[in-house]
Amino acid sequence: MNLTFFKRFRMEIGLTGRYIPEPVLPAGYRFLPWSPTLLERHAEAKYRSFRAEIDANVFPCLGEYAGCLRLMEEIARKQGFLPEATWLIAKGETLTAKGEAGKVSTGTTGGIEYCGTIQGIRDSRGVGAVQNLGVTPEHRGLGLGACLLLKALRGFQAEDLPRAFLEVTAQNEAAIRLYEEMGFRRARTVYKAVEVAYT
Ligand SMILES: CC(C)(COP(=O)(O)OP(=O)(O)OC[C@H]1O[C@@H](n2cnc3c(N)ncnc32)[C@H](O)[C@@H]1OP(=O)(O)O)[C@@H](O)C(=O)NCCC(=O)NCCS
Repeated sequence: MNLTFFKRFRMEIGLTGRYIPEPVLPAGYRFLPWSPTLLERHAEAKYRSFRAEIDANVFPCLGEYAGCLRLMEEIARKQGFLPEATWLIAKGETLTAKGEAGKVSTGTTGGIEYCGTIQGIRDSRGVGAVQNLGVTPEHRGLGLGACLLLKALRGFQAEDLPRAFLEVTAQNEAAIRLYEEMGFRRARTVYKAVEVAYT
């Protein structure tokens, strides 16, 4: 095995006194608040958002549906898990909460599409931690990523958290630009060691 180091930035934003607007989604999209019945839908959106991206190399679990499901289960079980900062975006027919969870998504053809996901937790120091923000490739560039981030930040504010942070891989320019436009600033550089098999 070979160790590869990925450069990552820890980015932070102050929330106290900051105006964070309620985001407005483009027509046809809607927010789904957290419900345990949507756990698999979050995992699906996460998997389709990350499977072909740099972060699937940094965190191999993001490159597999089973890994994303496990990750979602771990996040939802965490003591500091914040439902208010955890959102899913769906596109397609509207169903009741029960039907939504029971409906099988068909990806890009008809039915309900789960296009984006974000999760938030309160860390041990009382700071909001953004988990994996992801928008599926077919729905990028429409503002969905920014909308999800705003929803999560408003969720942290509703819990009176003074600050929020996230980590982003240095090569992920689209995400860094989004975070900087939102007001996040680089606080620290960290390196994530990943074991890569020799080929
Ligand atoms: C990063 C990601 C969530 C952005 O989602 P999105 O819905 O396309 O983003 P938005 O449409 O809301 O774009 C908001 C801003 O992000 C930046 N941005 C988004 N895509 C970009 C791109 N391809 N290149 C450069 N900047 C980009 C821009 O600043 C943009 O603002 P603008 O439209 O005013 O130029 C999405 O690309 C994604 O899921 N990537 C793979 C998963 C990932 O890496 N997540 C981040 C983990 S830290």
